[in-house]
Amino acid sequence: MTLPSESSGSREARPTGSPRLRLAVALGAMAGLFLLLMLSGALHPWIAVLSFLTAAAVVSAAWPVLGGHIPATAPTPNVIAGTDRSDLLAFAEALPDPCLLVDRYMRVRHQNGAAAELLGKVESTQPLNFVLRAPEVSEAVLEVVKGRGPRVVTYFEKVPVDRWFEATVRRVTREQGPQELFLVLLRDLTEAQRVERMRADFVANASHELRTPLASLIGFIETLQGPARNDAKARERFLEVMAVQARRMSRLIDDLMSLSRIELKAHMRPGTVVDLAPIVEHVAEAMQPLAAGQGVEIRVEVRERPVQVVGDRDELAQVFQNLIHNAVKYGHSGGSVEIELRRQARGGTRPEAAVVTVRDHGPGIPPEHIPRLTERFYRVDVASSRDKGGTGLGLAIVKHIMTRHRGQLTIESEVGKGAAFSVFLDVAGGRGKDVAAATPMAAE
Ligand SMILES: Nc1ncnc2c1ncn2[C@@H]1O[C@H](COP(=O)(O)OP(=O)(O)OP(=O)(O)O)[C@@H](O)[C@H]1O
Ligand SMILES: [Mg+2]
Repeated sequence: MTLPSESSGSREARPTGSPRLRLAVALGAMAGLFLLLMLSGALHPWIAVLSFLTAAAVVSAAWPVLGGHIPATAPTPNVIAGTDRSDLLAFAEALPDPCLLVDRYMRVRHQNGAAAELLGKVESTQPLNFVLRAPEVSEAVLEVVKGRGPRVVTYFEKVPVDRWFEATVRRVTREQGPQELFLVLLRDLTEAQRVERMRADFVANASHELRTPLASLIGFIETLQGPARNDAKARERFLEVMAVQARRMSRLIDDLMSLSRIELKAHMRPGTVVDLAPIVEHVAEAMQPLAAGQGVEIRVEVRERPVQVVGDRDELAQVFQNLIHNAVKYGHSGGSVEIELRRQARGGTRPEAAVVTVRDHGPGIPPEHIPRLTERFYRVDVASSRDKGGTGLGLAIVKHIMTRHRGQLTIESEVGKGAAFSVFLDVAGGRGKDVAAATPMAAE
């Protein structure tokens, strides 16, 4: 901890006024003196004039040294004037991070507001190891008490929730003995650790997903170059599998690019108003051949039209495509997929919601998986998803698009009874006073 200094340190103090003005005043004073000497008869007028001119020339030449830039006072040492214990406590209180001041006997003498919020109210003189159940921190304080210099340790807390902290321990008072105090400053690293873990997982997952089809491609190439070189039938079959794997890799790269594009724009809301009805209908129609191939009937019910929202047409089409594709892929045993577009009133001053629900009657999703489905690469059954050509990015893309649109995605499912994925968006313009709250924008 670096305490603030009240002194101006080694900054130079300068005389006031500009050097030119000060020179003019000095020359004026000299002129006055020589005039007096001349009038009093002490100097002959010519001698007085010559003496004045000589002295003026000398003073002007030497002026920068004599009066221009010489420091008026010596640099003051970098000291903290008047810092006492109450200043120290006020300073600790002002810190945004939790901190404790402990004595050399490892008793807590003070906690700041942030520490009270984190650890609850601590009685003065309570032992540090009662307050922080982290032996690493107590050991660090002991080391600093012994004069071994500042220490930084990280520790992990499991209760009530998993959290990572970094504790910095330093001596903060100069005196030795019972009055000396040591600072234990805590920094919550949980969020940083979570982001770091997500980043590492993401890289590991992405490389794994790319490596699998790549390994398969390399295997087939080697077989075609070797044992199957002259086997026309095998060549046909292998090339087909290779094409599937290559398409899979290309889709994975497209999905990754989509995700990072949407993330880059996450803070910018789309700037156009679009009607959801034709978008939903168009995507459903485009999915018909895929559904028919799986023996699934797609039914679309548009209850009202137009249903205008502030949105990006392509991104919204991607949301519906990913949801319908999943419903067909995972719920084909149910035989049909229903898509519904409706408006739904919401309480208070909130605008009506435009709701699109994609429902299937397949095997459904066990409840413990539902909260994690929108994580990148998360799949209930990895092998089955891979068999179906899935990469586990579809719902992550949906979630990111919804975040950008300030919308929500809800998932309802009961095992054995299918699943319903709904997206909620604010209706823009149109009817009623509720709707007026939406940003009025030009229709696309
Ligand atoms: N309608 C559904 N019924 C049952 N399970 C589903 C349904 N939709 C999604 N899931 C489960 O959620 C997982 C994640 O879905 P997501 O769309 O993110 O990835 P994917 O479909 O496996 O791959 P991708 O969409 O990238 O091709 C799926 O692997 C599947 O286990
Ligand atoms: Mg999917």
